[in-house]
Amino acid sequence: MKGFFITGTDTDVGKTRIAAGLLHVLAARGHTTAAMKPVSAGCHDAAHGLHHDIMRNLRNDDALILQRHATLALPYEQVNPYAYAAAIAPHIAATQSGYAIDVTHIKKLFDDMAQRVDAVIVEGAGGWLVPINDHETMANVAQALGLPVILVVRMRLGCLNHALLSVESIAHHGLPLAGWVANILNPDFTPLQDNIDALRARINAPLLGVVPHLENVDAESVARYLNL
Ligand SMILES: Nc1ncnc2c1ncn2[C@@H]1O[C@H](COP(=O)(O)OP(=O)(O)O)[C@@H](O)[C@H]1O
Ligand SMILES: [Mg+2]
Repeated sequence: MKGFFITGTDTDVGKTRIAAGLLHVLAARGHTTAAMKPVSAGCHDAAHGLHHDIMRNLRNDDALILQRHATLALPYEQVNPYAYAAAIAPHIAATQSGYAIDVTHIKKLFDDMAQRVDAVIVEGAGGWLVPINDHETMANVAQALGLPVILVVRMRLGCLNHALLSVESIAHHGLPLAGWVANILNPDFTPLQDNIDALRARINAPLLGVVPHLENVDAESVARYLNL
């Protein structure tokens, strides 16, 4: 085991905040960490348009958060090798920009950081089966890295189906599910406990935390609700 692959029931479910929380927990226990967001769509231009290589100057907020919370300082290009400006499906962004996603390249960058730290936290993009090109998905990235998976479930109506489909497909891809996290973005969602119980009864992996709706979703606050 050389870390975790963080996936979620959807986009905007809390993958980045939970990943940052995990990095905080690991560092607090004295482990060295690195972090990676191999593919991001939705970036700002760090060079304000004054550049020739469109990908080189693009920065994604998720990748910057992960980069900041890892103990090992890495160049942005290693944390987030595929950065696309438009917040659209990655394989479409890749086609439009002409920068195709190469899983072998992601694996090479990952192997380099994995040799230098105790654990690498890798955040997917969107949900588990998001396509990255004509023949591969984010699940194939997780497979190539060979990491156990942590599934972040945003507690809302519809999450049982999304969570169970994800769990089934993670198993189908032959990867271990290290656990799942219930993230309560919407404090008004009811009945919360019955929904958590329904997933506990059906997911054969530990519930690693129930993260409440937080006013301040910083890594340290999230970490308080995670038990690895
Ligand atoms: N437990 C929480 N309480 C309050 N806000 C949250 C919580 N978890 C996530 N958020 C907010 O929800 C949004 C999506 O979270 P993020 O971690 O970026 O999701 P993802 O990485 O899955 O797209 C962010 O604005 C984040 O601050
Ligand atoms: Mg994210």
